[in-house]
Amino acid sequence: MAFRPALRRVLRQAPFLIIALVLAACGRDYPQSTLRPHSDITRMIDGVFMNTVWWALGVFILVEGALVWAIFRFRGKPDDPEPRQTHGNTTIEILWTAIPALILAMISVPTVRAIFRTYDEPSGADVVRVNVRGHQWWWEFSYPQYGVTSANELHVPVGKTVFLEMNAYDVIHSFWMPQLGAKRDVFPNRKTTLWFRADSAGFYPGQCAEFCGTQHGRMAFHVAAETPAEFDAYIHGLQATNVAAAADSAKARPDTARRAAAPPVTTTALAAQTATGPDTAAGHKLFSSKGCVQCHSLNAVKFNKNLLGPNLANVGARRYIAAGTLPNTDANLAHWIQHPWSVKHGVLMPELGLSDADARTLAAYLRTHTGK
Ligand code: CUA
Repeated sequence: MAFRPALRRVLRQAPFLIIALVLAACGRDYPQSTLRPHSDITRMIDGVFMNTVWWALGVFILVEGALVWAIFRFRGKPDDPEPRQTHGNTTIEILWTAIPALILAMISVPTVRAIFRTYDEPSGADVVRVNVRGHQWWWEFSYPQYGVTSANELHVPVGKTVFLEMNAYDVIHSFWMPQLGAKRDVFPNRKTTLWFRADSAGFYPGQCAEFCGTQHGRMAFHVAAETPAEFDAYIHGLQATNVAAAADSAKARPDTARRAAAPPVTTTALAAQTATGPDTAAGHKLFSSKGCVQCHSLNAVKFNKNLLGPNLANVGARRYIAAGTLPNTDANLAHWIQHPWSVKHGVLMPELGLSDADARTLAAYLRTHTGK
């Protein structure tokens, strides 16, 4: 028969297909997988998913099992008589309506409950509050309780509830941390919220999940979940950059001394950076003369709407630059400063026409800004 060679061909290739599937399962690093929850909220969501999976698996086995059993049990032979014809069976019809309705209830009740839980607004003294703001194409994180702002790397303490109040600067984005939290759209002029409590330390990737322009795919971020002590050190380090800036600001203009706790974002903040060597001094000068200072702050001041670029208070210590796009090496940092459009075409940071030497000097200068 004609199908036999075709069947033989399929069978001959089957082992390769099976090996490919088995090997695919060996990959262990799925950083954006929601199937590896590391917070209470993602465990809850994973529970909803697995609940659905087990019900679906049970239905599949029962239905397919009954089908296969019927195929073999009632297989017709050429000289069989016509089978008995029936029409309607009230018992079976009630059962096949009631059982699926019951299963759907078992799935929908926990699902709806979980959806509502994601909208909880936790309160209490030990809740860490973070204001998240989406920009084309980076993320701003500010901590109103501590008066510090950072970008693209969200630090949180393990075991503490983190409450995110989010909006967008320009267009609609979507904040998504696959292993730590649900996905939530962020809008200009509208607040959305999300909470989570990381249960294990780690460095987790996140991603904008709503198309927001040509570089949407390069609008990533990371969440550093760390011990409460490490988190405190992180916050204190950022606060220290503000204190240094405030002290300098007060020195420059004595009348501002009283407002030192909340320094204005001006070029005077720049002078707070200690110019320890000739290279640093050169970088400091370039940062000012090339206009970097127009968009970026070097201390962790709260967001100022005139500063269009990410805060750079601890850029030297971040693991990635360009919103999770490039590992933060000296070469990448210099390249990003010199040719931003070759990394992210359309980004607000202009091509400044920097020489190789200037780019390296600026990168070395930024490297000294570790937020410590
Ligand atoms: Cu922001 Cu996509």
